[in-house]
Amino acid sequence: MTAEKAGFDHFMMKEIHDQPKAYRDTMGARLDPSGSKVVLDEMNMSEEQIRAIRNVHIIACGTAYHAGLVGKSIIEKLARIPVEVDVASEYRYREPIINKDTLVIVVSQSGETADTLAALREAKRNGAAVLAITNVVGSSVAREADHVIVTWAGPEIAVASTKAYTSQLIAFYLFGLQLAQTLGTQDAGFIANVIAEMKLLPEKVEQILAQADSIKGWAEQVAAHDNLFFIGRGLDYAVALEGSLKLKEISYIHSEAYAAGELKHGTLALIEDDVPVIALGTQEDLLEKTISNIKEVKARGAHVFGVQSEGQTELAKAVDGVFTIPRTLTLLTPALSVIPLQLLSYYASLARGNDVDKPRNLAKSVTVE
Ligand code: G6P
Repeated sequence: MTAEKAGFDHFMMKEIHDQPKAYRDTMGARLDPSGSKVVLDEMNMSEEQIRAIRNVHIIACGTAYHAGLVGKSIIEKLARIPVEVDVASEYRYREPIINKDTLVIVVSQSGETADTLAALREAKRNGAAVLAITNVVGSSVAREADHVIVTWAGPEIAVASTKAYTSQLIAFYLFGLQLAQTLGTQDAGFIANVIAEMKLLPEKVEQILAQADSIKGWAEQVAAHDNLFFIGRGLDYAVALEGSLKLKEISYIHSEAYAAGELKHGTLALIEDDVPVIALGTQEDLLEKTISNIKEVKARGAHVFGVQSEGQTELAKAVDGVFTIPRTLTLLTPALSVIPLQLLSYYASLARGNDVDKPRNLAKSVTVE
């Protein structure tokens, strides 16, 4: 078993370190060698089918649902098509408005999650086309969908998903770019620039991993608490939700992710002396607003750790500790900002003496509804 962990103590840490390769493999041959285009022919979606899409529903569970929240922003920004995101266990029961112009995207690492599969079948019954984003070739979800994008993350063993999530983000970037190319919603220069920046992501992840040890101190402080909050705006909020889930899953610390601007409508009442708050501030256009929310929690005694992008200076002044991720396009930041949060939950779980790879009460793949 140790050999399979490639020298790491846990599968989770190995899989966190697999991410640069998972990004490269998932982008792989899908980026045209000229660097200017995405080639997703394998998805088997014709130009006509792409042009017919009027709305998109993204359906998934757990971590894959959080990838879907980022996917919504990607598709809406790149292709200007309206997107709804649902947890699979709710989708079927809310009588979703589905028709033949709806593209339903199911996201599932295993491709076997019962709720996701049931939602896929409901979508097909209602005449929607279904695209599956999955890590398992030949899985039930892959077999039953009309179109498939495989994430080449390799087998994920740890219950807490890491490389599957980030590979799902890469799949959404590729799909969003494919839509933009076909629909002409973004010009060729913009698309080429996004592709060039995507190609730099694996080495930027490596730079973050080289600083992994600097997260240990935060994690040890966090591990001493029973309540914690993650805050962020826009894409940072979507990543905050994933960071919070990761921490809950393996450290058993109660944690909530909040849209930073929404805090004042209730959750602020829970902030008291010494409560840890993880603030994501990588979305430059929203930074000033996020900083004013950080000031609100600091004024009530919170201890704030921040995540910022290289080149920023304002967030560091407002928080008690800061982790800096390499600079990339705003749209691509989730593929980097989630890595320190994965490391935070890993080290917090270790500090609490938990079984990192096999958290209590949870299963890797849930095949009951
Ligand atoms: C389980 C796992 C989660 C995962 C979710 C969805 O709850 O513990 O890590 O995100 O299922 O799994 P899927 O295979 O559909 O992505």
